[in-house]
Amino acid sequence: MGRFATTAALYDQFRPPYPTAFFQEVAERLGLNERQTLIDLGTGPAPLALGFAAYVGRVFAVDPEPSMLEAAREAVMRAGQEIMLVQSRAEDLPEDVGRFDVVSIGRALHWFDESALGPLFERLVAPGGVVAVCASFSATDGRNAWLEEYTAARRAWSDERLWSQSKYGERVHRELSSPFERTTFCAGEVIRVETTKQTSVADLAQRVLTYSSSSPAALGEKVEPMLRDVEARLMPFEPQQCSHRDRCNDRANRTPSVTTGRECKNTF
Ligand SMILES: C[S@@+](CC[C@H](N)C(=O)[O-])C[C@H]1O[C@@H](n2cnc3c(N)ncnc32)[C@H](O)[C@@H]1O
Repeated sequence: MGRFATTAALYDQFRPPYPTAFFQEVAERLGLNERQTLIDLGTGPAPLALGFAAYVGRVFAVDPEPSMLEAAREAVMRAGQEIMLVQSRAEDLPEDVGRFDVVSIGRALHWFDESALGPLFERLVAPGGVVAVCASFSATDGRNAWLEEYTAARRAWSDERLWSQSKYGERVHRELSSPFERTTFCAGEVIRVETTKQTSVADLAQRVLTYSSSSPAALGEKVEPMLRDVEARLMPFEPQQCSHRDRCNDRANRTPSVTTGRECKNTF
């Protein structure tokens, strides 16, 4: 069973989503159009593939995890979109899968074999094309007063080894020059779109289950105690005027971002 197998059912509902304004901004800045093709690697339940589908002609979405692809299939059907779903690790895609104007990767780059990234991008990215590394997360600049306690709770309940891997993922998104180092691509433009969303304490507790280090499989019988503990830790951050817990919300500023990488020799 893959590390994301038991997160699939919860992922779409509880992870910070990518807002519509994000796709509009990226589409405009990259000049996306319906003659272009996009492949989304590590698609999960396909939030990026679906978000970009309105701006390009053809979309492929790739993930090795069957339950994630099933969640993607349901999301694609709900949206009434046509997206080609492919079950594969990015590194194992067949040679004849084609070339794409955009290769998007959302919150997944750190799970790929770094030594395979160079050859992978070279065969997937069409001339003049772009790699778009995307992420969406709660702002870490102090505006989310609950975030520090929340991160401490996540760490306390996480599998130690998987926690280190997900922390590595955050570093990869902060310092993209490192994964691009052994490729002919280099980190380019950063596009950030900030939006605000109200998220309940109960939903923030459920979000813990969407991370591989604290998935239902990783936690086993500790799921319920974890949910109760996270809710209790976040309670002090509930707005005082709320009388009923379920109607109280915490503010979560989300900053989805994309960093584009183009072939150095062509663009920079
Ligand atoms: C955190 S989810 C990201 C989902 C979505 N792209 C997003 O932005 O929210 C990471 C996904 O990467 C997938 N993944 C892990 N290793 C992979 C690989 N080698 N190739 C392609 N996808 C992979 C996992 O199965 C999982 O669905």
